[in-house]
Amino acid sequence: MRIDILTLFPQMIESFMNESILGRAQKGGFAQIVLHDIRDYTTDKHHKADDYSFGGSAGLVMKVEPIYRLITKLKSEREYDEVIYTSPDGETFNQPMANSLSLLNNVIILCGHYKGVDHRIREHLITKEVSIGDYVLTGGELAAAVMTDSIVRLIPGVLTDEQSALSDSFQDNLLAPPVYTRPREFNGWSVPDVLLSGNQALIDQWQMDQAMERTLALRPDLLK
Ligand code: ADE
Repeated sequence: MRIDILTLFPQMIESFMNESILGRAQKGGFAQIVLHDIRDYTTDKHHKADDYSFGGSAGLVMKVEPIYRLITKLKSEREYDEVIYTSPDGETFNQPMANSLSLLNNVIILCGHYKGVDHRIREHLITKEVSIGDYVLTGGELAAAVMTDSIVRLIPGVLTDEQSALSDSFQDNLLAPPVYTRPREFNGWSVPDVLLSGNQALIDQWQMDQAMERTLALRPDLLK
């Protein structure tokens, strides 16, 4: 899968994309994450990528031409399944959306900044608008990072143990059961006996009961 991220501030997320699981996913050839600086597609000598808004409302607006040039260039090179715009107005990102986006081949994510992009971009080039929650960020870069992270880890082969993506919280509308590792005893705090019993059926049942209990207590809305 290839994800092209279009932003005025590529440095904000560059190191994030190259660390840990995202970095490994790229080195292993499972994902290609390409950051593009929108300013590189300006043609004036000041590399102006934003301007005052018509009508006089406060705040700068991202200009239409550089974004149009960049998206048109990318589209001439390959076919894109979605051109996503990050915005608090968008559909709220969640696990089912991550699952379906992880099945696509090529996706563009355009990060909004300041007051957002000239609306003509949204009308003519964007196929999907996504919000990562009901709060306002200074820009869409963190939203693009959040989405990319949760999408790429779902690509088969990215996680060493595929089960671990399947048993994530939310994957079956249940929160994940508690996990423990060595030592068995610390500070008088012990690991539940059942996990040390070696009886896999009992362990599976305990994990399912715990998942159900935690979901009922913490996120009952997920069970509706
Ligand atoms: N840009 C600013 N706030 C945002 C949000 N909550 N989700 C996605 N993009 C944003």
